[in-house]
Amino acid sequence: MASAVFQGPGRMKRAVFAGTGSYLPARRMTNADLERMVDTSDAWIVQRTGIRERRIAAPGEATSDLALPAARAALADASLAAEDLDAIIVATMLGDRLVPATAARIQADLGARRAAAFDLNAACTGFIYALAAGAAGIKSGLFRNALVIGSECNSRMVDWTDRNTCILFGDGAGAAVLAAADGAGGSDILAFELGCDGAKADLIAVEAGGTRLPTTPETAAAGRHFLTMNGREVFKFAVNSICRMLTDLCARNGIALNDIALCVPHQVNYRVIEACCERVPLPLDRFYLNIDRCGNTSAASIPIALDEAVRAGRLARGDLLCLLGFGAGMTWGSALVRW
Ligand code: UT7
Repeated sequence: MASAVFQGPGRMKRAVFAGTGSYLPARRMTNADLERMVDTSDAWIVQRTGIRERRIAAPGEATSDLALPAARAALADASLAAEDLDAIIVATMLGDRLVPATAARIQADLGARRAAAFDLNAACTGFIYALAAGAAGIKSGLFRNALVIGSECNSRMVDWTDRNTCILFGDGAGAAVLAAADGAGGSDILAFELGCDGAKADLIAVEAGGTRLPTTPETAAAGRHFLTMNGREVFKFAVNSICRMLTDLCARNGIALNDIALCVPHQVNYRVIEACCERVPLPLDRFYLNIDRCGNTSAASIPIALDEAVRAGRLARGDLLCLLGFGAGMTWGSALVRW
């Protein structure tokens, strides 16, 4: 499939990472908890996915409630005030409400008076798409500072009686502040690849609740508002996408695989990453993984993992960082960063 490829910075401004933050809700759901809910076992989940526990939002805790602490942490890390923001972009599959955008609520709660605010849905690739939108705005001179958030309350979309899906997902939020840089220095975003194969749209979907199949008592009773997925096909798509994006990214940017200090992939399944490491090849320790503790948090997974990697000292100045996402759509996206 063809992809949109963006190589920077050219004559435009540079978009740099100024700060990161993340937030996980307090409640831990372990595999033992799931054993009491569906016909599964800790051994099966660990062996097939690498997941040991995931976090679940409290009743009443919505997408923006997860996003806010992550956003505040990213702003503090960037030493910026909310009033400095020109844009807030929230990548999510399920916002607080259908209308208005969750970003609007976050703008008000942060007090980011000057900021444009909108949501973006590219499923688990959402954070990469949102990062590209923020970086494009900065490079063109439209924004100086953009807050990019991935926030998900997957637990509200999951069928807790379906063992094929409910064991995988978790809730959480991650955020990054992007800033315009005129001179040298800063964690420079060098290139993006974004793509979508819409013919595969049925591989991961929520059927009801939109204009195609509006909500009715029947759709609710039939459980058609829950997420469904063809796990095996998604697994193959994930491995193929990650391997191809990594190889292409290196070719386009004139770097060797071994030059990449760290990959932060969408946390989909430990076996997916293992398979990629073998095929590409790249040692497993070049991938930052938190799937054992967080499960799959969709659009939040890359920014949560990135923030953790930064806090854990996994990135040094000048390191090449590769962000790798894929998800419903089917979408994919990568970003190359000189940290
Ligand atoms: O962000 C993108 C979202 N999508 C994903 O993250 C999905 C990517 N795919 C995957 O991670 C894997 O395909 C799964 C973890 C979903 C499934 O693993 P798998 O190795 O592909 O298993 P499978 O679907 O081939 O199922 C193998 C067996 C089946 O039983 P039979 O037909 O062999 O008797 C399933 O019914 O495992 C059974 N099974 C389970 N058993 C215990 C499926 N789910 C479970 C479960 N516990 N939770």
